[in-house]
Amino acid sequence: MKRKVLTSLLILIVGVISAQTHFEDGLSAEWHKTRREALRERMAPNTMAIFFNNSVKNRTNDVDYVYHPDTDFFYMTGFREPNSVLIIFSEERDFGDFKADEIIYVQNRDPRAEMWNGKRLGVEGVKDILGFEHVFVNSEFGVTPKLNTEDFDKFFSLDLSNGVAGSRSNLALRKMLFQYKELSQYPEEDNPVSIQAYELIRTTEVENSANVAQILGRMRQRFPDIEDDEIINNYISATSPEERLKVKEALPRTKADVQTLAQAMDVLREVKTPEEIELLAKAVKISAIGQVEVMKAAKEGMSEREIQGIHEFIWKRYGSEEIGYPSIVGAGHNGCILHYVENDMSNISKRLVLMDLGAEWRGYTADVTRTIPISGEFNEEEELIYNLVLKSQEAGIELCRAGVEFGEIGRVTRQIINEGLAELGIIKEGEQHNYFPHGTSHHLGLDVHDRGGYGPLKPGVVLTVEPGIYIPEGSNCDPKWWNIAVRIEDDILVTEGEPVNLSVDAPRTVAAIEEMMKLPSALDTWTLPEINQ
Ligand code: GLY
Ligand code: MN
Ligand code: MN
Repeated sequence: MKRKVLTSLLILIVGVISAQTHFEDGLSAEWHKTRREALRERMAPNTMAIFFNNSVKNRTNDVDYVYHPDTDFFYMTGFREPNSVLIIFSEERDFGDFKADEIIYVQNRDPRAEMWNGKRLGVEGVKDILGFEHVFVNSEFGVTPKLNTEDFDKFFSLDLSNGVAGSRSNLALRKMLFQYKELSQYPEEDNPVSIQAYELIRTTEVENSANVAQILGRMRQRFPDIEDDEIINNYISATSPEERLKVKEALPRTKADVQTLAQAMDVLREVKTPEEIELLAKAVKISAIGQVEVMKAAKEGMSEREIQGIHEFIWKRYGSEEIGYPSIVGAGHNGCILHYVENDMSNISKRLVLMDLGAEWRGYTADVTRTIPISGEFNEEEELIYNLVLKSQEAGIELCRAGVEFGEIGRVTRQIINEGLAELGIIKEGEQHNYFPHGTSHHLGLDVHDRGGYGPLKPGVVLTVEPGIYIPEGSNCDPKWWNIAVRIEDDILVTEGEPVNLSVDAPRTVAAIEEMMKLPSALDTWTLPEINQ
């Protein structure tokens, strides 16, 4: 009890901040430096870009969620500690005492905080290990060096409208955000759609203003939460270019730009370098092996949580640091819930189990789905649906080649599913339906839905191909199809030549899955004591 009081007091003083500072076997300091240089090359003269690492999120009372860095911040730095900020200048600037084209602010070393939450790199560690030259403790933000609004034409950041919630662990971050917002004249308006609309008005010449008024009208229909925005409404309802000019001139002044940086990061992160591909391939391989081991271990009577646990245990055996996203294990009708993460069905029997899980390896995440019959054998309807999804997926994977339009994968896979559903009599030909309600592909990388563009595919892009069919109970078709949910998801590397399936180790055909499910598992003989409570 005494220890609890002491613990609470100390936690109040130091906050709870998680530990891992950087990956020793991940991307190198030199690699991250090349990414900063690539961004600098894209920046207009006399500008600066700023990246804030994620805030710490409180879970319950004294305990926070496991910390996960912001993926753009990590991409640029390799640094994983909270309360850190990176600034990149478009060119080297002379601050009197020193010249710098980038600066990073970090947490100070603090023996008491480190006793609770693990080692921090501090200023010297960030210099030595991460290779930054100009490193300051975060309390120096705004002081060393002094930055002035008038010294820059533009300040680039990502959207900062989310704010930082209550935790004391975020005090330094909150202070830096506040100071940056003053420096950049960041809009007080906290609706990102309004900010985007103002930026559009601000950058529109008078002769094009009627067109932009129309664009804003459509935007207002799409985002009803800007319906009451007076500036936008005045611009849309203005009856002459002069009136629109007046609205533009009355806009609040700002040098903050919240769009350009996001677009630049989309471009930089879309094509993976060989170093990234190596890490991604490892995350995917581990996840595929998890699927294999579950296929061997799965049997009727298991729970969704147990299956989730086997996947995640396998990843931990390989040393994966995290899950890439909340694991989805949905049996029967639960498979129809696309982002089902409760995984609370016990005693699964005679059902398909949809398993969409991805390990994270040194920051990079996999995203692999397999759907298996818990009994070890697909029934007739399950097999028909499964093979239709597989046919669609194979056609999608075949399209993962340089030069193919991203959207083509979605178009072709959907057409195959539509035709197949009609052939099976589940829909009438040409009928609109909701049995495949999600997109087929997304980029994969540091984020499970990674940054990237949607034009022609380029070598080095990694994307998922994941068609699915979900037939919830009560659907307008023969009840024999009800509660069948199948998704098959693989992670594909686009190259100069053939598509490379990084998740190929996880069986995908009906025959291969059924064969794998016949094999013994180490878990078959592992029993735990009965608990009769
Ligand atoms: N696991 C989320 C997705 O497949 O997009
Ligand atoms: Mn996916
Ligand atoms: Mn997935």
